[in-house]
Amino acid sequence: MLTDKVDDELLDTAGQQLKVVSTMSVGYDHVDMEAIKKRKLPLGYTPDVLTDATADLTALLTLAAARRIKESIDAVRNGEWREWRPNWLCGSQFTQKTLGVVGLGRIGEAVAHRLKAFGISQVLYSGRSEKPEASKRLQAQFVPFDELLAKSDYVIVCCALTKETKEMFNYDAFKKMKRSAVFVNSARGGIVQQDDLVRALEDDLIAAAGLDVTTPEPLPPTSKLLQLPNCIVVPHIGSATLETRDQMGLMAVRNLEAGIQDKALPTSVL
Ligand code: DGY
Repeated sequence: MLTDKVDDELLDTAGQQLKVVSTMSVGYDHVDMEAIKKRKLPLGYTPDVLTDATADLTALLTLAAARRIKESIDAVRNGEWREWRPNWLCGSQFTQKTLGVVGLGRIGEAVAHRLKAFGISQVLYSGRSEKPEASKRLQAQFVPFDELLAKSDYVIVCCALTKETKEMFNYDAFKKMKRSAVFVNSARGGIVQQDDLVRALEDDLIAAAGLDVTTPEPLPPTSKLLQLPNCIVVPHIGSATLETRDQMGLMAVRNLEAGIQDKALPTSVL
């Protein structure tokens, strides 16, 4: 599972007879690739099947953060719901707004596709390289990271956690965003410098955040993030639909079976 660290220590403990590693996830930043490569082990993972479920949840978090759902639920629970007030709990609207996707892979594209249905008029994206096919499908524009930060009303993180993306969202990055911007991360907690995100929300550098992933996971209930009214945190449930988890489980088992039988894994990283 993605919360298990697969490193030299674990692989040594497993011993010489270990034939295959299979993770029930599309992300594999918890796996030390050098440790896998030097043992010539196949590594199975579960791409594609979780794209829709994760994109749904990312879109949901974007909507929920934009429309201040956490504050709204708390207000009802705390007895603060009084007469109808024109300016109470107003959030932002998607119509004619700009969406910035950091990492336009399968999930990023699927989120953009969903949010366009809510009226997003421009999609910007940044990443390692331009994606001509996806750009055409979405009529999206490849821009430098800083330009995406400056121009986007909604910034969603859909890239993998790598040496390059680690803590790329720091205080400096949040400072470059619009004060009205909503930030959403459903990729990996490590892409965000979390103390800087807390400071950015406290200092009103951005309007709100929605997080499906944090550092660490599980996030301790004492985390400052949970005290912020404009920060919604859910416990890494991007792929948590019955349909998707069934498929992920099957893929992970099929990879294991193939590895044990010395066959090529149906879906392998290596
Ligand atoms: C993955 O598979 O990497 C996802 O984060 C699980 O939801």
